Amino acid sequence: AEAPPAMAVPQAGEAGLMLLRRVGQVDPESLDDYLAADGYAGLRRAVEMGPAQVIAEVKESRLMGRGGAAFPAGIKWESTANQPATPRYLVCNADESEPGTFKDRAILEGDPFLLIESMTIAGFAIGAARGYIYLRGEYPRAYRLLSNAIERARERGFLGVDILGTGWSYDLEIRRGAGAYICGEETAIFNSIEGYRGEPRSKPPFPFEAGLFGKPTVVNNVETLCNVPLIMRIGAKAYTGIGTEGSTGPKLFCVSGNLVRPGVYEVPFGATLGQILDLAGGVTPGRKLQAVLLGGAAGGFVRPDELDIPLTFEGARANGTTLGSGVVLALDDSVDLPGILLRIARFFRDESCGQCVPCRVGTVRQEEALLRIIRNRQDAAAKGQDVDLLRDIGLVMKDSSICGLGQAAWNAVESAIDRLGILEESR
Ligand code: NAI
Ligand code: SF4
Repeated sequence: AEAPPAMAVPQAGEAGLMLLRRVGQVDPESLDDYLAADGYAGLRRAVEMGPAQVIAEVKESRLMGRGGAAFPAGIKWESTANQPATPRYLVCNADESEPGTFKDRAILEGDPFLLIESMTIAGFAIGAARGYIYLRGEYPRAYRLLSNAIERARERGFLGVDILGTGWSYDLEIRRGAGAYICGEETAIFNSIEGYRGEPRSKPPFPFEAGLFGKPTVVNNVETLCNVPLIMRIGAKAYTGIGTEGSTGPKLFCVSGNLVRPGVYEVPFGATLGQILDLAGGVTPGRKLQAVLLGGAAGGFVRPDELDIPLTFEGARANGTTLGSGVVLALDDSVDLPGILLRIARFFRDESCGQCVPCRVGTVRQEEALLRIIRNRQDAAAKGQDVDLLRDIGLVMKDSSICGLGQAAWNAVESAIDRLGILEESR
């Protein structure tokens, strides 16, 4: 079935937008529209610079990954390009599945040629033979638009043999997920593309040494890649002037929950949590903010008195939280928070691939303990024991799970206990 209508981008058409500037302004099916709005200026600039200089520029821009882990993109590219083994691959992680995350969808549906151009620049920089878009299965509109964009780009020589007279040949392929959250983990993507079960591999080896088909591979999130044409056009120096010292460039936030104007918002890094909520029109009239979930189900809760937290990588870290994939989910006083915790615990229990014991068993035990706490609100002693058990389970999952799913499955529950005092409150 076709997806619901295109993403809400309340700022569409506003001057000063950098990543979302074409969204809602151009026909996402038209390469001519894209070209008329600075399209492919980034690739042309990259070709003039040559691969080594493109990597140097991206390093100098201090572009950090936007999928959740904030690893420096330039270092990833450089370590992959330096590997002697060939062929090399580029994989775009478009399996946007973190609960509350829908920022990449705004680009995929509103400006698909931007991703195609970005992946061509990245492929050129690392000398890739092929690029793969691993697309969330529940994004049928994005699939249609990206397929069209790839076709149109091929017709005009932006993909295929001897791109822009460089002698370099490169093409893109889309692979669709089938609804499993774990298939967004980078090594699970490799297994899925290779035709195996979508289960994470142990790291190291990291993708840059042995990734897709065992070859050096860069995996970047959609939003990360889509910053690259901007860096090429304005240069690293100007790019680092946007945002803060530790978090350069523009950032997309997925703002949802009990707000007047939920949607995808773009701001230069540095805005506070309160400013983002204000952009979205603030909390539902007549209601009070109870908590904000930052960073998604793998992130954590913050309190209404913490709205001055700067939404930068360093600001979030200093405040003991994370930006994750850019989720800002506002919950007003009508929301049953223990119920939300249980929902998150169920999500991780469902989505665990079951490959390693701490996560397979831990996510089940976590859900059981939460359920008992919620049912036994009156029994303080039993509740205390279960909170202690939750901490033990959480520690084991964090320390000994193979991948980020198990390592982060307890984050939201932990922050609800320690920051919001939720379960203590009901003791
Ligand atoms: P990670 O910290 O293991 O790795 C980050 C990236 O850096 C990976 O690409 C890794 O291969 C690379 N890397 C690490 N060390 C390296 C080195 N020495 N040299 C070169 N590259 C290196 O984190 P992971 O598991 O990739 O991502 C976890 C994050 O994903 C979480 O923060 C979570 O919020 C986010 N996430 C986002 C989702 C979304 O829908 N956007 C869904 C689920 C999780
Ligand atoms: Fe699978 Fe969970 Fe282990 Fe990750 S941590 S490999 S999701 S069982």
